[in-house]
Amino acid sequence: MAGWIHMVTARTPTNIAVIKYWGKRDESLILPVNDSISVTLDPEHLCTTTTVAVSPGFDQDRMWLNGKEISLSGGRYQNCLREIRARAEDFEDNERGIKIAKQDWQKLRVHIASYNNFPTAAGLASSAAGFACLVFALAKLMNAKEDPSQLSAIARQGSGSACRSLYGGFVKWIMGKEENGSDSLAVQLVDENHWDDLVIIIAVVSSRQKETSSTTGMRDTVETSMLLQHRAKEVVPKRIVKMEEAIQNHDFSSFAQLTCSDSNQFHAVCLDTCPPIFYMNDTSHRQIILLHPCCRIISCIEKWNRSEESPQVAYTFDAGPNAVLIARNRKTAALLLQRMLYFFPPSADTDMSSYVLGDKSILKDAG
Ligand code: ADP
Ligand code: DP6
Ligand code: CO
Repeated sequence: MAGWIHMVTARTPTNIAVIKYWGKRDESLILPVNDSISVTLDPEHLCTTTTVAVSPGFDQDRMWLNGKEISLSGGRYQNCLREIRARAEDFEDNERGIKIAKQDWQKLRVHIASYNNFPTAAGLASSAAGFACLVFALAKLMNAKEDPSQLSAIARQGSGSACRSLYGGFVKWIMGKEENGSDSLAVQLVDENHWDDLVIIIAVVSSRQKETSSTTGMRDTVETSMLLQHRAKEVVPKRIVKMEEAIQNHDFSSFAQLTCSDSNQFHAVCLDTCPPIFYMNDTSHRQIILLHPCCRIISCIEKWNRSEESPQVAYTFDAGPNAVLIARNRKTAALLLQRMLYFFPPSADTDMSSYVLGDKSILKDAG
């Protein structure tokens, strides 16, 4: 029995919120102050790959992130491990003679190796792909038979945004009402085939680690921003209803208007925080004056949208300077990529390092 290792590898894409989650009402359970909606990206481009292994030879839980060992002592990793262990079932592999009884999972230790194929902690939602993948892989390893919504409530306790990466397509994180968080989970609004005209292009303005993590940033916002109260109670509930309608009806005009406004309000709330948080301009205030690429991308898209009968492209920025651009169809995406490469060529001068396509087929079919 002593020499065996049982392991599982999973791959999970990241998700980008079009109605943002920002602010917790419960820090340890990770319960948000408002509902949020996101789109899950194509797993080809921005994803986490995690291998989890169990062996009687392992004497402690250990984890390596992008090849470097990290501590699992933080509450978030412990919460995910505890919740999955509590749901573990008997496991048997007759060919290899491995038999793990339900109660054995409490004693067996796991080793975890995780890689992100995109910048970690740079505002491209690595915590979302990372914790969703971890929870999914652990559940498979331990034979826990939970559905994605139940797993989402566990991933939520690793990182809030992670709960939305358990599904593809457009996903809503329902904030829930219960104090124990049992109803704060993700549901799929529509699957990835529902609106497959959309093409997502991510402009990587900076892959540097952000100065203020999402967790710290939103804690400061909850403590100091009055605007957040207004956003969470008055603005987001109405936007959620309209966004769901826009998605159901493939209404790009409404979708783009809501997405851009919500991104801008999220960054306004960050500026309303004390001390203010500048996610959209990398590290210094000086870059606002020099017109950092993300400010120029916003004005470029705004001008383009105003020059057409209806919006062609939506933009949204998470907690970092990288632009997520959503084109209404492949033809627009080809034009968008052309404009971006012309105005913001990937080079040291522009700070732009690369473009990532959320839909790998755009170059093939464009035009
Ligand atoms: P991001 O904008 O990239 O989500 P956050 O500040 O929200 O940045 O979260 C970054 C943190 O998420 C990392 O410091 C790490 O603790 C965690 N994280 C990132 N990738 C993974 C992963 N693959 N597996 C587990 N945890 C991860
Ligand atoms: C701006 O989920 O990273 O990306 O729950 O503290 O881990 P924690 O924060 P995180 O916050 C994400 C914030 C956001 C918006 C969003 O994804 O909805
Ligand atoms: Co995050």
